[in-house]
Amino acid sequence: MRAENSGAGLLRFITAGSVDDGKSTLIGRLLHDSDGVYDDQLEWVKKASATAAGGLDLSYFTDGLRAEREQGITIDVAYRHFATKRRRFIIADTPGHEQYTRNMVTGASTADLAVLLIDARQGVLPQSRRHAYLSALVGIRRVAVAVNKMDLQGYRQDVFEQIRLRFLEWLAPLGFVEPCFIPVSALGGDCIVERSTRMEWYTGPTLLEYLETVTIPAPESNGGVRFPVQLVTRAGGDFRGYAGQLAAGALRVGDPLVALPSGLRTQISSIVTYDGDPAEAAAPAALTLCLAHEIDLSRGDMLADPAQPPAVGRDFRATLVSLAAQPLHCDTPYLLKHTTRLVCASLRSIAHRVDIETLQPVPSQELRLNDIAEVVIQTHQPLYFDTYQDNRVTGSFILIDMLSNQTIACGMIREDLTASGSQIPRMAKPVHSGLTVWLTGLSGAGKSTISNGVYQVLAARGWQLEMLDGDVVRQHLSKGLGFSREDRDENIRRIGFVAGLLTRNHVITIVAAISPYRETRAQVRASIGSFLEVYVNAPIGVCAERDPKGLYEKARTGQLRGMTGIDDPYEEPLSPDLECRTDLETLPESVAKVVAAIERVLEWREA
Ligand code: ADX
Repeated sequence: MRAENSGAGLLRFITAGSVDDGKSTLIGRLLHDSDGVYDDQLEWVKKASATAAGGLDLSYFTDGLRAEREQGITIDVAYRHFATKRRRFIIADTPGHEQYTRNMVTGASTADLAVLLIDARQGVLPQSRRHAYLSALVGIRRVAVAVNKMDLQGYRQDVFEQIRLRFLEWLAPLGFVEPCFIPVSALGGDCIVERSTRMEWYTGPTLLEYLETVTIPAPESNGGVRFPVQLVTRAGGDFRGYAGQLAAGALRVGDPLVALPSGLRTQISSIVTYDGDPAEAAAPAALTLCLAHEIDLSRGDMLADPAQPPAVGRDFRATLVSLAAQPLHCDTPYLLKHTTRLVCASLRSIAHRVDIETLQPVPSQELRLNDIAEVVIQTHQPLYFDTYQDNRVTGSFILIDMLSNQTIACGMIREDLTASGSQIPRMAKPVHSGLTVWLTGLSGAGKSTISNGVYQVLAARGWQLEMLDGDVVRQHLSKGLGFSREDRDENIRRIGFVAGLLTRNHVITIVAAISPYRETRAQVRASIGSFLEVYVNAPIGVCAERDPKGLYEKARTGQLRGMTGIDDPYEEPLSPDLECRTDLETLPESVAKVVAAIERVLEWREA
């Protein structure tokens, strides 16, 4: 549901214009006339403009800010706060016309509204269109078009009307909600804060009135928690926390989370912030999370809502805005930065670029500076993402040139192509050959748990996988079989048969079954061929203590006969390919070992 934010609260907006159309003066006028400027800033401007002839130079409000900013080197966009009795505002000032696209997109991606400036003498310029189009692309629904320098056009209504009608027609397909046109003179202060006696023909709101009263649809969010891990912090003793900024959703201590890429489940044990340890937090809070389980996470990994996880994949359709002086081409490797993650990526195809005059698609082989295009991107490692419509943070990315380290494009993810696969040419050859990964061991040793972990890691890579778990198989394929030697062997043969079929078809098949008899395991191995035996080993005492299903207790009290390891045999593998000592190593360690062993087998085979 969309909530309307009317009147109250905070409005974030950007201003965009062409060179010399008076943007700095307009912002300065807004800050000055609305009494929104702090006294120390005003003092500074007075001093700075004292050297210039005449009165207060309002552009110093923003140009002064620019000077401050230039010392900071890396910040592209400066945020200016001001407030009136009715509302608080944040202006994203996006200076520098040579890089206006980059700055604009950066500033606009968090904005609710765009103030587009048009010079009354020049009318609608290609840049005005581009600014409007970019605003729409990044999800801004509201625009105010300030037709500036009306003083230089004799405050004439017909000049304003002509610009309004022309631009309104062009804006129509972009889906803005009721674009508002305001004739202003930033220099003279007409219709910025106060109404103008020189344009009595204009009966609409002044710019400030409009900004104070406009309603803003709350941004749509799919609601799922997204926490890209920025930093792993260890502070003495056992403390281990994951620091970052919550990109979406709300968290409470005790909430379940899934870690990506491992797929391991955990809960929040505490939330740590600079202001203490709150029981809950909501996006966009910066915080550190402590988890109930020891999970191996590093920068670029993500914690997410297990009920609404993000897409995990390497292929997606995106809208790309080129910021590069050199043209971008398909199949050139680039670096792609997505949340806190940096991966290699390339353009697989350019569907078309958009002609900014006509808004029509145009076929294109390459992308030049400021081009806006629909493309298909493939990354080397999977990303954990949402569409831009669902989440502006996890749905956006930038491309970086590998050599110069320059940002060369920014993008918005429109569609996950991993699942549909329809737009991606199918690979002629499967990515990997088949393999049965056979986990044997006592009940309670951890076979199913490790299998799940391995499955999640490989699933995140988009591999073809299947899992055959003894407990599950016994409800279907082996329904009715008991635990005599014959029945157990029959069960294992059936599992082996299915695993063999899958393995032949390039599936990584993960089997978790006690499979207590050496000879039977050897038979299955021989019939499948491509086989990795993993001994999931924990002393029987440890398994009995864990006793996840209460079977050891039943065996102890005589309610269960023939329990493996108690009064039924378990024949340890004599030379397994891999052993996981689950009493000595952590779950992530075991999972990593198995994944590494699978990789080794496949690499060796494919070499
Ligand atoms: S196997 O011996 O035939 O390989 P499988 O792995 O399929 O066993 O199934 C074992 C599961 O059956 C155990 O995880 C446990 O939940 C359940 N079970 C019930 N009775 C027994 C028993 N007597 N011995 C071992 N597991 C049993």
